[in-house]
Amino acid sequence: MDNLYDRLKGNTPIWFMRQAGRYLPEYRKIRKSKKSFLDLCFSPDLASQISLQPINRFDFDFIILFSDILVIPHCLGQNVQFKENIGPILKPIKFRELSSSIEKSMAKLSPVFDTLKILKKKKKEKKIIGFCGGPFTVLNYMIEGGTSKKHKKILEFIKKEDKAKCYIEKILEFSIEYLKRQIKSGADMLQIFDSWAGLLEPKEFEKFIIKPSIEISKEIKKSYPEIPLIFFPRGSKRKITKFIDEVKCDVISLDEITNDDIQNCKKKKIIIQGNLSPTILLKGGKPLIEEVRKILERLKDNSHIFNLSHGILPKTPIENVEKVIKIVRDNNELTKRTSINTKR
Ligand code: CP3
Repeated sequence: MDNLYDRLKGNTPIWFMRQAGRYLPEYRKIRKSKKSFLDLCFSPDLASQISLQPINRFDFDFIILFSDILVIPHCLGQNVQFKENIGPILKPIKFRELSSSIEKSMAKLSPVFDTLKILKKKKKEKKIIGFCGGPFTVLNYMIEGGTSKKHKKILEFIKKEDKAKCYIEKILEFSIEYLKRQIKSGADMLQIFDSWAGLLEPKEFEKFIIKPSIEISKEIKKSYPEIPLIFFPRGSKRKITKFIDEVKCDVISLDEITNDDIQNCKKKKIIIQGNLSPTILLKGGKPLIEEVRKILERLKDNSHIFNLSHGILPKTPIENVEKVIKIVRDNNELTKRTSINTKR
């Protein structure tokens, strides 16, 4: 890898988590044409078109594969459905009913690999981000059966440590293979979405977030040392210090950023990704402009990828997205000009 950390210094790229989604009229139009959300994820022509929609409209700096983290439970044999206005519904499944054949499971995901191959052919000049969920976040959906408010079932479930470990190891094994095949199909970078990492106390966080992340990083780096890894252990708060001490990551996506994080990441040459609130983006106006400027100013001496602290909200106005991109790009121009002037 040419050194991404140094290359991004003073030149902040921008993309948004869930940049392909319901806030785009062109997405809603394609979405109507398919019965189910998973059908859409498994239609390479449509999924590649959707991945490129935010690129064609806004010229974001990265393409993210259009798919979902819940394709892993699906390929393991669990019934996964997406219901309008509710979200994902996963049917309960016993451990022994889960697939034990990686090959068969990966075959189920072959349309996702085809989507990546199409993207690679179409857009050679932009980096493509592949992804999967963190094993704990995926397990959370598998056990809760969908998006949960209180997460009672999963917090109870992980008390049975041996059983929980079996599930985590299985999800981990399949996810690592899934990521490797995404690289082979054209992914240039990978993001691990551990959206529910913040639920766990330090001891469980170590077991179910840090350990599996170390494993993912080790396995991917062993075969593909040049592929940058972005970890997103959302809501980790102070546990993030330990996370970046132990997990070898190129980029850390942070929902909250403290001054300690800024210093630690600079020392370790870890790129910070983040951290505009999706709600501030949705509301727009002066507070949005001020917040974007504040984030850029705080991270100006770091290597920074501008992003949200979580996925973009479906009602977000297009012009707010355009505004943020313009501020970030103007700021890059200004930084470039200032640095040329000071060198003279
Ligand atoms: O970022 C992108 O643009 C790429 C595609 C992507 C989707 N989901 C598409 C999607 C990615 C990277 C995800 C990740 C994902 N999926 C996460 C991790 C990030 C996060 O939000 O915490 C999680 C937890 C999921 C699971 C999931 N998928 C939920 C809970 C839902 C329902 C909530 C919602 O936003 O509708 C989904 C559905 C989903 N995934 C949609 C999209 C565009 C909306 C489906 C629709 O069009 O009806």
